[in-house]
Amino acid sequence: MSTATREIYFVKRPVGMVGVDSFRIESSRLSDLSQGDVLVQIRYLSVDPYMRGRMNDNRSYVAPFALNTVMTGGAVGQVIQSRDPAIHEGDWVFGQLPWADYALVQGDGLKVLDSHLPPTTALHVLGLTGLTAYFGLLSVGAAKSGDTVVVSGAAGAVGSVVGQIAKINGCHVIGIAGSDDKLRMLLDDYGFDGAINYKYQNVAATLGQITKGVDVYFDNVGGPISDAVISHINDFGRIAICGQIALYNNVAPDLAPRIILPLLLTRRATAQGFIVSDYSRDFKLALSQLGHWYSEGRLKIREDIVQGLEYAPQAFLRLFEGANLGKQLVYLP
Ligand SMILES: NC(=O)c1ccc[n+]([C@@H]2O[C@H](COP(=O)([O-])OP(=O)(O)OC[C@H]3O[C@@H](n4cnc5c(N)ncnc54)[C@H](OP(=O)(O)O)[C@@H]3O)[C@@H](O)[C@H]2O)c1
Repeated sequence: MSTATREIYFVKRPVGMVGVDSFRIESSRLSDLSQGDVLVQIRYLSVDPYMRGRMNDNRSYVAPFALNTVMTGGAVGQVIQSRDPAIHEGDWVFGQLPWADYALVQGDGLKVLDSHLPPTTALHVLGLTGLTAYFGLLSVGAAKSGDTVVVSGAAGAVGSVVGQIAKINGCHVIGIAGSDDKLRMLLDDYGFDGAINYKYQNVAATLGQITKGVDVYFDNVGGPISDAVISHINDFGRIAICGQIALYNNVAPDLAPRIILPLLLTRRATAQGFIVSDYSRDFKLALSQLGHWYSEGRLKIREDIVQGLEYAPQAFLRLFEGANLGKQLVYLP
């Protein structure tokens, strides 16, 4: 018998700050399985800042979401039924899946997860988030022992892994985040050397007091925080531009003094944007390294879990409110 499910549709392109009115939940039924199909009960959805970019009808590195289609993203779930010989009932799988209770998908689009690891780790430290931190810091930022590394969005999914990998590699690490709870987590749980609350501290002045300049800036947020950090970039410093979340909901360009390019010139510094998929050829090796660090307890994780498919839009909005403490997930009971 066909399976009843609920699905979350993307129904309105936001102008400015995204709201719940961009989404609608609907009920439907899935068809029966054909050869190669797998029926997955989705258990955890990952909500990610890049999804905001896909809501605009703009040219980017990934196509915009089409209006009135079901939202999709990284998710993990359990196999209920399979007509793919490589995937078995009960397996935990990862895939680009709909925001829905159940999904009927081709087995070749799924990755069967290692049963010894918590399945949610595939949505952060042992998935694209961990890989983003790894390649952004070590390949783009070329961080090495003794460097002073500053990371913005430091308490988030990517930022917290960046800081910990930097510590493993012998760097001096300063994190920038938006609440004192987040700062405590950076210092006490993740072993950062310093932390700045950008909501009430002057980032540029504080960096001037607590560092001798910045060798690597891992930029997750952009905007005024990045202007402040880049003003302290050292000669031959590297700026890894990972994300610009402070700008994602802007309606018009955020105008700032034109200081960045003159600074890159006089300090002979480099700024490079990157998308994690640029490094896909090396994912396997990097995942193995991240897996070792995680198993040894050297990469700690924190998940922030909202319960219920119907609350996935609210969970997504939490990213832009800074409400998430750790990787934002949605659990589907
Ligand atoms: N280049 C790539 O391939 C790639 C891959 C994955 C992610 N990313 C980017 O990496 C960044 C982090 O992603 P994530 O998944 O780890 O999200 P996250 O950091 O777990 O969550 C987003 C955080 O951004 C901060 N934030 C939100 N609005 C802000 C603002 N106006 N100014 C300053 N900070 C703000 C909030 O923390 P506070 O409380 O500290 O403000 C919030 O908790 C995003 O920009 C994302 O687009 C890039």
